[in-house]
Amino acid sequence: MNNDETSLATVPVGLSDRAYDILIGPGLIARAGGEIASRLPGIRTAIVTDDNVAAAHLEAFEASLSAAGIGSVAIKLKPGERSKSFESLQETVDAVIGARLERRDAVVALGGGVVGDLAGFAAGIVRRGMNFVQVPTSLLAQVDSSVGGKTGINTQRGKNLVGVFYQPKLVLADTSVLDTLPAREFRAGYAEVAKYGLIDRPGFFEWLETHWREVFAGGSARIEAIAECCRAKAEIVERDERETGERALLNLGHTFGHALEAATGYDGARLVHGEAVAIGMVMAHRFSARMNQASPDDARRVEAHLGAVGLPTRLGDIPGGLPDAEALLGYIAQDKKVTRGALTFILTHGIGRSFIASDVPAAEVLAFLKEEAPR
Ligand code: GLY
Repeated sequence: MNNDETSLATVPVGLSDRAYDILIGPGLIARAGGEIASRLPGIRTAIVTDDNVAAAHLEAFEASLSAAGIGSVAIKLKPGERSKSFESLQETVDAVIGARLERRDAVVALGGGVVGDLAGFAAGIVRRGMNFVQVPTSLLAQVDSSVGGKTGINTQRGKNLVGVFYQPKLVLADTSVLDTLPAREFRAGYAEVAKYGLIDRPGFFEWLETHWREVFAGGSARIEAIAECCRAKAEIVERDERETGERALLNLGHTFGHALEAATGYDGARLVHGEAVAIGMVMAHRFSARMNQASPDDARRVEAHLGAVGLPTRLGDIPGGLPDAEALLGYIAQDKKVTRGALTFILTHGIGRSFIASDVPAAEVLAFLKEEAPR
């Protein structure tokens, strides 16, 4: 691990003519103008952000662009998942076109996953595809949503049902902005950090078990952890950009997790996405043990680590009660990872040994959910 506090990590994403770099380190918002101008000279930009992120970072970001000679307009969305809508997409698209930006100009996402998904979709469709730059400001966005080109919005029938794969030209992950995140939001993002260890990097998971306090504290351990997550995701995306196969491993914990988010009405006061993923990952390990694929010791280890950082790990940790096992199975069956009636789960043979299991019998899942129900 690198001990230089001020070092910048660069993670290349090797996607032939759509290859790009992810820069990770402190102070990147202040340096954004120079980094963008050197790669996309002579452009103008539309900065898509939300009211909260704008209050904290927009002025500094605009100043950095302007110092590098990059003109910009700002498009501010309301914070929250509701902004991933056709209405917000239309507003964003209208504002980009209204500002007379051309295809070679850039849409810049300054914010978390919601802003990135919406702005990326707008960039992908205005003028049949403009340049796109991601400046993720949450831990979740820095390790997951800003990497790999998934963009989109929600519809009444479910999350992320409309969108395109559209890769950015550059990602600038400023690690110092994470210092101002509420503790709960940072913890929730950390669930996705641990996820990469659990998918296929057992050494990384072991490192996190020892060093997680340093990752929370900031400095070089945080930069290195985020860089390792981006490398892990980039490797998978390079092999399977459009999720025809192994990219689904990135959904470890998400089948149970999405069901819990739906069952709690997407009420962030009760459960946010990363917390749902934490419980979902523990459940995936416990279910794998139940299916005789992994040792129960691995599930205990995952639970011990996520619990130590303060994440929920059990259904009983969710405040306000849950529907019964049959209803939870109903939410799972509605999830997009269902193929012709068979349930597909990401299961595991142990820490860092996840695999895609199609044809998981619904009866086994139901029996497991009954066992897991809080007593
Ligand atoms: N967040 C999962 C993926 O990008 O594939």
